[in-house]
Amino acid sequence: MSLRHSYTFIAPFYDAFLTAATREARRRSLGPLAGAPAQEVLLAGIGTGLDLPHLPTQHRYTGLDLTAAMLRRAKNRRPPAPLRLVRGDVQALPFADGSFDAVVLHLILAVVPRPERCLAETDRVLRPGGLALIFDKFLQPGERALWKRALNPVAGRLATRLDVVFEEVLDRVSGLERYHDEPALAGGWFRLIRLRKAGQPGRSD
Ligand SMILES: C[S@@+](CC[C@H](N)C(=O)[O-])C[C@H]1O[C@@H](n2cnc3c(N)ncnc32)[C@H](O)[C@@H]1O
Repeated sequence: MSLRHSYTFIAPFYDAFLTAATREARRRSLGPLAGAPAQEVLLAGIGTGLDLPHLPTQHRYTGLDLTAAMLRRAKNRRPPAPLRLVRGDVQALPFADGSFDAVVLHLILAVVPRPERCLAETDRVLRPGGLALIFDKFLQPGERALWKRALNPVAGRLATRLDVVFEEVLDRVSGLERYHDEPALAGGWFRLIRLRKAGQPGRSD
């Protein structure tokens, strides 16, 4: 079964399991958008749109997802500001270089088979000085995590990988610098990480 098929099946139940458990982490992760001037923001793997209630109103938003059933639910929510919904793959984003000031990566880097492609694409579509806001579950470098690694072949095919080490992903992508990393949930398994793209805002060199 592909991820698109399993998320089509999961879509009707997704909010019941995730809304309350992730509300505070989402709010904290999206904090840097609050005081920023009007920007173009990409919600990569928007899902059912659980981030939408936490978004400030001054920006223009694009939500991208692979699964039509998840996008339909996002469409039924009232967005806080203009929201364009696009079907696509975060590992091959259908946007020009430097299209966004910020990319929100909530519960997507550990979902896709090639997180380094997702992060490289994030780097490509960000403008210089742009931010990537990450909320996801990662193993610590060197963590054995035997049961997570044992479950990973099945979990990764159905819903999410359990074996992603963020540091290994970031090492394979140049141009994004980590400036914030804090534990969010489940004893630090879930983390809030913020990256900044090198360069000055407003410059393309
Ligand atoms: C765990 S959900 C996270 C949704 C949302 N970001 C959130 O925080 O609730 C993962 C989402 O990624 C989507 N997805 C899976 N693979 C994808 C891909 N290659 N490109 C875009 N979206 C993908 C799924 O359809 C699903 O909506």
